Amino acid sequence: MRIAVTGTTGRVGRALACSLAGRHEVIELPRGCFDLASADIREALGELDFDILLNPAGLTGLEQCEDDPWLARQVNAGAPAEMARFCRDRGRKLLHFSTDYVFDGIRPGLRTEDEEAAPLSVYGRTKLEGEQAVMAAGGTVMRVSWVFGPEKAAFPDQMLDRALAGQELSAVADKYSRPTFTADLSRWVAGWLEAGAPAGCFHACNGGPLTSWHGMAVEVLGFLGDKGIATPPLKALRLDEMTAFRAPRPRHTGMDTRRLARLLGEEPRDWREALREHLESRLISR
Ligand SMILES: NC(=O)c1ccc[n+]([C@@H]2O[C@H](COP(=O)([O-])OP(=O)(O)OC[C@H]3O[C@@H](n4cnc5c(N)ncnc54)[C@H](OP(=O)(O)O)[C@@H]3O)[C@@H](O)[C@H]2O)c1
Repeated sequence: MRIAVTGTTGRVGRALACSLAGRHEVIELPRGCFDLASADIREALGELDFDILLNPAGLTGLEQCEDDPWLARQVNAGAPAEMARFCRDRGRKLLHFSTDYVFDGIRPGLRTEDEEAAPLSVYGRTKLEGEQAVMAAGGTVMRVSWVFGPEKAAFPDQMLDRALAGQELSAVADKYSRPTFTADLSRWVAGWLEAGAPAGCFHACNGGPLTSWHGMAVEVLGFLGDKGIATPPLKALRLDEMTAFRAPRPRHTGMDTRRLARLLGEEPRDWREALREHLESRLISR
């Protein structure tokens, strides 16, 4: 299949482009040759020859979205809507990536795909608008959360680097979700393709217990401790102490993955196992 992938300089886009390249013809669409903020999305798509379009590109900085809501709406909602209508009109498939931040996160526990979304921020609102347009045109949405992987440093990498440098660590302990490992996400996307690229919304994160960023940091330190590496202290923070967070963050957004598990015929593995695999390869490559 010919698979076009946007956002290939990003964490998810890079992972997808690399993992699919062995079995498919991958057309990489970094911002330099495909700008989602441009007014000519349909025209640009019309020049490409693809069967399936994967859209992980997005304006992902929450504060940036608050500061530039016009750009956030164009990139996260307007462009995916154009992509979705183009794909519907031409009989192509679209897989769009969204976020657990479409939920308000007020109620503890796991969120299902059918639960009402009520985003708190410009980022969440524009991502939800993008989702709705994609679904209305018969496309597919995968919501991911707390993504990490070798493509680009994320929260656990910062914790690992600080711990190895002997620097004190701190992390928010009262905000809960389930992380997503890009290598696993790439396998799930391959499974979705093999299943005929069904439409609908899927929660695509790793399994295992709900955790906080503090919980992830504890896991990083546990991994280092198991290797006999001395670790610095870790301080627990409250979300309301994070004054640098100007955009509101939802508190309880762990996603229920049973729909994805039914599609794939297996449960996504525990995030702790995935994280340790990632940390192991980070240590080896240092
Ligand atoms: N990372 C997470 O923890 C997380 C959590 C929940 C949901 N998500 C969702 O998952 C998807 C992938 O996230 P990610 O972690 O891969 O994000 P990322 O690393 O921030 O990458 C974002 C990608 O989008 C591209 N992009 C931004 N503005 C663009 C524009 N105007 N035109 C074309 N491309 C543009 C970026 O290109 P440049 O490199 O040129 O800026 C980059 O390639 C996003 O839709 C995000 O909303 C991510």
